[in-house]
Amino acid sequence: MSAAVEIQGLHKSFRPRRSLRQWLQFWKGRPEVEALRGVDLVVQPGELVALLGPNGAGKTTLLKVLATLVTPSAGTVRVGGVDAIKDPDRARAQLGYVLAEERSFFWRISVRENLRFFAALQGLYGAEAARRVDEVAALLGLGDHLGRDFQDLSVGQRQRVAIARGLLPDPPVVLFDEATRSLDPGRAERVRRVIRELLVQRGKKAVIFATHDLAEARALADRVVVMAEGRIACQGLYAEIEPEIRRLFSAEAAAEDQALLRLFPDLAPAPGPEVRP
Ligand SMILES: Nc1ncnc2c1ncn2[C@@H]1O[C@H](COP(=O)(O)OP(=O)(O)O)[C@@H](O)[C@H]1O
Ligand SMILES: [Mg+2]
Repeated sequence: MSAAVEIQGLHKSFRPRRSLRQWLQFWKGRPEVEALRGVDLVVQPGELVALLGPNGAGKTTLLKVLATLVTPSAGTVRVGGVDAIKDPDRARAQLGYVLAEERSFFWRISVRENLRFFAALQGLYGAEAARRVDEVAALLGLGDHLGRDFQDLSVGQRQRVAIARGLLPDPPVVLFDEATRSLDPGRAERVRRVIRELLVQRGKKAVIFATHDLAEARALADRVVVMAEGRIACQGLYAEIEPEIRRLFSAEAAAEDQALLRLFPDLAPAPGPEVRP
């Protein structure tokens, strides 16, 4: 059986958009942002990976490449055995994707109509679609909200609708990008349980869950893949690599403290009393 996700030598550079001024000085060239600098990752069916890393590490870019929303600069990507670069349509049919920022729902129609619309986009119609919408809504505690307009939901409820949409087609690979961000702790834990027990243990799906939150990575998954600056910095069982994870995150925080101090030198802690020998 082929791996659910297979990534080799993945690179992605973004060219920042040119301002008029930059156009006028185009010979200077634009600095590229290297979001991914050689990522290799294999995820098997029935495996849950927490993709952990500070802001800007490249997590979202990696998930977007897998979801065929971003074309990589180099490397190979296979989803369910399908080449995601050569055959994006077939690769997309293998996966569900819950975006970090959800802007694609229709605000003036009900949650049920929204989910029915996205079910249809994924080839689910009629009684089957109706049943599936009810199932995923119940799973995420949205049963009582199906008749409400999307615009009337709270941020956390909208987030749960986005998760429901990702689960509608029941795909073998599911990607979550900071999916519990606006949920209260109880709901967040419930979503993690649905992922762990229902999708992975029972459904044998391959799940990649991106988060910048150490506690969430630990609560979610056995296998943690840590990204920093576009590379996989370390991976393994959380308990085994915890010291390395903490080092990576504290280096990040220290660099930001330095930057803050350069901007606001008066924030520096007062020097202690001079110590004389
Ligand atoms: N469309 C884009 N254009 C330019 N730079 C981008 C774009 N998307 C992401 N980046 C840059 O790529 C790097 C990785 O971003 P991202 O994948 O969003 O990280 P993460 O999700 O880990 O916070 C960041 O430096 C970010 O600014
Ligand atoms: Mg991100």
